[in-house]
Amino acid sequence: MIDKINSLLKRVEEFRPKAEAEIEEFRVRMLGRKGEMNELFEEFKQVAPELKKELGQRINALKNTIAETITRYKTEMENRPEAAGAGIDMTRPGTADRIGSRHPISLVRNQIVDIFTRLGYTVAEGPEIEDDWHVFSALNFPPEHPARDMQDTFFISKSPDILLRTHTSSIQVRTMERSKPPIRVICPGRVFRNEAISYRAHCIFHQVEGLFIDENVSFADLKQSILYFAKEMFGEKARIRMRPSYFPFTEPSAEVDVSCNLCGGRGCNVCKHTGWLEIMGCGMVDPNVLEASGIDSGKYSGFAFGMGVERISMLKYGVKDLRLYFENDVRFLRQFDSVL
Ligand code: PHE
Repeated sequence: MIDKINSLLKRVEEFRPKAEAEIEEFRVRMLGRKGEMNELFEEFKQVAPELKKELGQRINALKNTIAETITRYKTEMENRPEAAGAGIDMTRPGTADRIGSRHPISLVRNQIVDIFTRLGYTVAEGPEIEDDWHVFSALNFPPEHPARDMQDTFFISKSPDILLRTHTSSIQVRTMERSKPPIRVICPGRVFRNEAISYRAHCIFHQVEGLFIDENVSFADLKQSILYFAKEMFGEKARIRMRPSYFPFTEPSAEVDVSCNLCGGRGCNVCKHTGWLEIMGCGMVDPNVLEASGIDSGKYSGFAFGMGVERISMLKYGVKDLRLYFENDVRFLRQFDSVL
């Protein structure tokens, strides 16, 4: 019997399982109902009384060693790094973590800012709550101009006139007031107009406006700058055309159209079969505006332009309803995931 105990002990010491299943197999063989230990206990019943004490102790020690060995190997197996992946197909491609995406308005605003930064413009910002001077008076709006009307402007107070800016031209006024030419700024920001909300208008939207003032700035400079912008934004094939227009703060003034990037100018639904899409207003800064901000209009001239970020984004990405930009529906926003 001693021999049997020793040979079992040896088997336990030499036991080196490679998988969890082997440990379980070993446990059944040793400690199971028909296992080695039970056989040993059966034999033990026949042992002479004077040997019972010593043999009993040895058998118990053997049983403990077996149990300890099994527990040790089990914990070892469970803690192996491979254990975490058990049952997982390691050859499958991983699931990518979904990271947030930039809002299309931010994307397009950053792009516009980038393009003009390359032309040497710097970014200027200003308050959303403004006074009448910076939004209207300094920009040559006559006192009875309809844009001052309650229909268009959200007033906060009358006398003094405090209002939500209706365009970021107010930032250009502030820039002219505090700096000397040459001036080259772009002014991105939120603007507010009392408009009925529809697929093409909202009471809050975003603009980027620009201002360039120096000696001998001409309309040709304006046209080249806008053409450069259009090609950078809509592609090398983009063409522009200018139509005469009116703004109180520029003379002459123009609306800028870019060739429709969807049909290449042949005519489609989006460009209403004209081949052209309106993208911004622009013009040569009116001498009255320069003088109002303390700039010598005899020495300096300049141009200004302004565009709606929502509009550019709609044209660039083919978005048909402006309200989508404000709803924050993730199904809409996720479509811009891959756009940096
Ligand atoms: N401020 C004008 C607007 O909000 C845009 C504009 C800016 C037009 C500069 C001409 C020159 O519509």
